[in-house]
Amino acid sequence: MNKKDIPPVLVTGATGRVGRVVIDQLLDAGVAVRALTRRPEAAATLPAKVEVFTGDLTVPESLDPALNGAGAVFLVWTAPPQTAEAVVERLAAHVRRVVFLSSPHRTPHPFFQQPNPMAVLHAGIERLIAATGLESTIIRPGMFASNALAWWAPAIRAGEAVRWPYGAAEAAPVDDRDVAAVAARTLHRDGYAGGEYVLTGPESLTQAAQVGAIGDALGRRITFEEMTPDEFRSLSEGTVPNPAVDMLLAAWNAAAGQPAYVTTTVADILGTAPRTFHQWATDHATAFTNGA
Ligand SMILES: NC(=O)c1ccc[n+]([C@@H]2O[C@H](COP(=O)([O-])OP(=O)(O)OC[C@H]3O[C@@H](n4cnc5c(N)ncnc54)[C@H](OP(=O)(O)O)[C@@H]3O)[C@@H](O)[C@H]2O)c1
Repeated sequence: MNKKDIPPVLVTGATGRVGRVVIDQLLDAGVAVRALTRRPEAAATLPAKVEVFTGDLTVPESLDPALNGAGAVFLVWTAPPQTAEAVVERLAAHVRRVVFLSSPHRTPHPFFQQPNPMAVLHAGIERLIAATGLESTIIRPGMFASNALAWWAPAIRAGEAVRWPYGAAEAAPVDDRDVAAVAARTLHRDGYAGGEYVLTGPESLTQAAQVGAIGDALGRRITFEEMTPDEFRSLSEGTVPNPAVDMLLAAWNAAAGQPAYVTTTVADILGTAPRTFHQWATDHATAFTNGA
């Protein structure tokens, strides 16, 4: 099918890490894009070609203008769960295909099998989607490489040591751009309906080694200092929700002493190797040196 014949794709989470790149990928593929945001002023940060709709996942009827005439939806859910059922019903009434950004909660690696309210939310939304007649694809990324920005950039920018718990815990951080590229591919090409894809980076790295890779990208050594879980808990108080802190600590604790789960799915789908964490750090070095 000519891309001009494909109805527009609605991207939710359009101003977020993954959705924003999904937009670029779809535009590059010649697909018409609609973006959903709660903040009309965010339109200024999106490409001019994108049709921007104001809507809120917690107000399901607010999605109708964006859904009318759309063919597929990229669904990102960071909102509370109460309106998920009504939103999924609306998707099923309007579009043919949904690609949902979930997590690897079905993967039998201890890292992904700890109590995790976000995973419970994701599983619930997947059940709602499965109960409709929608063509669906579930994207299951592991830890995003970009978590390093929120976690470590403030200390690195200040020239301080990175103090963090479970330095020996391993992960295979996946570049958000690879997650977005896979999502975009499954939104505009056929053949991915019913698929669920666990996406990881290409290599297992300890958290201390990830900080070391950022140091390599900056051309200087960054000291990593181990912090106790209790210290992490008390320092996170008021900035990170307690369930998220519990989830992270449990995952790192469970992951200690074993390599991270690594898949070849990014390469299998895109035909190109997933970006390494070193590559991610090199491409984002300025974010660790200025206030970006
Ligand atoms: N971080 C990780 O390592 C990781 C790993 C696996 C899976 N995930 C999953 O990835 C998802 C987050 O993706 P992301 O990091 O790309 O997002 P993000 O950067 O956190 O941005 C959140 C997006 O959601 C939108 N949003 C929030 N509340 C909304 C609402 N009530 N109605 C409509 N839109 C709303 C925001 O849009 P506006 O503010 O413009 O309205 C924004 O675009 C989560 O489900 C998370 O569990 C994360």
